Amino acid sequence: MTPAPPLRAVAAERGLHVGAMIGPGPLRTEPRHRRTLADEFAAVTPGSALKMGPLRPSRDTYDFGDADAVVDFGVAHDMYVRGHALVWHNQKPDWFQAWDYTDDQLRAFLRDHIHTVAGRYRATVDAWDVVNEAVADDGSLRETVWSDALVGDYVADAFRWADEVTDANLYYNDYGCEALTEKADAVYDLLADLLDRGVPVDGVGLQLHALGERPDPDSIRANVERFRDLGLDVQITEMDVAFSRDDVPDDPLAVQAGYYRAVAEVCPEAGCDALVVAGVSDANSWLRSFADFPDRYTGDPLLFDERYRPKPAYDAVVEALAED
Ligand code: XIL
Repeated sequence: MTPAPPLRAVAAERGLHVGAMIGPGPLRTEPRHRRTLADEFAAVTPGSALKMGPLRPSRDTYDFGDADAVVDFGVAHDMYVRGHALVWHNQKPDWFQAWDYTDDQLRAFLRDHIHTVAGRYRATVDAWDVVNEAVADDGSLRETVWSDALVGDYVADAFRWADEVTDANLYYNDYGCEALTEKADAVYDLLADLLDRGVPVDGVGLQLHALGERPDPDSIRANVERFRDLGLDVQITEMDVAFSRDDVPDDPLAVQAGYYRAVAEVCPEAGCDALVVAGVSDANSWLRSFADFPDRYTGDPLLFDERYRPKPAYDAVVEALAED
């Protein structure tokens, strides 16, 4: 029997970068992780290694070891590398306290950070999440240390600073804006305004953490299409599908597979060019360790189970992409 083509082969046929967001730990210690990533995926994103906190152990030092491990793996396996994330309000260094800086100093600090990190990976990172989650759930600009100090326009500044040092495609990335929600309207308005002003934004990343709720695929299609009509590239950047522990369907693996199938159909049809999942194996899902998520959500949201066996969701994605 001829083995079925792996996910990366069927995705490539559809012009889709199929990827996984990963940490450096299992990449170093788990051969099955390396093998599955290399055989099945054509894109990789460091889950946390490129965030400011993990990268900057002290005020004057950077530690690029973990980030390099993931990026180098991607380059060695001819993968599309998504960098994540230059500006975010979470996972900042513990030593970093905004009140140690004047507003001008904070601006210089963020500019230097972007120049250092995006500049280092100029030749290896294909797309950057330049700004992550700048819009609050009610659609207003999220109040963060960056918005406080740099006033409203820090998003524009971040894109301009990244553009000074890299040719990578520059993305705005967020959650809750996959379908036609109020937050998606706000993200749309933000990006339309940036484009109007000539700010170098190339694309929008839709995280798609389907935790308990699964955004309607037809609504995702319409939303992706309107971002495409603005001239933006669109990527699904952190997809996982889990259930609230108090509302698990009778056949969770089948429901999960059905949703992955629907998204895998809509994504290339609507013009998305990447579908990145939030990990390779359920064993490494962030839902198993992050905050109170282990209590709230089922912990098996990905395409491969703990033993790296493909799940029904994997078959569903392969089938959906194989059908033209
Ligand atoms: C998560 C990582 O996967 C975890 O390992 C970390 O503890 C917290 O952050 N949105 C994002 C990602 O943009 O960076 C987050 O990743 C998940 C939510």
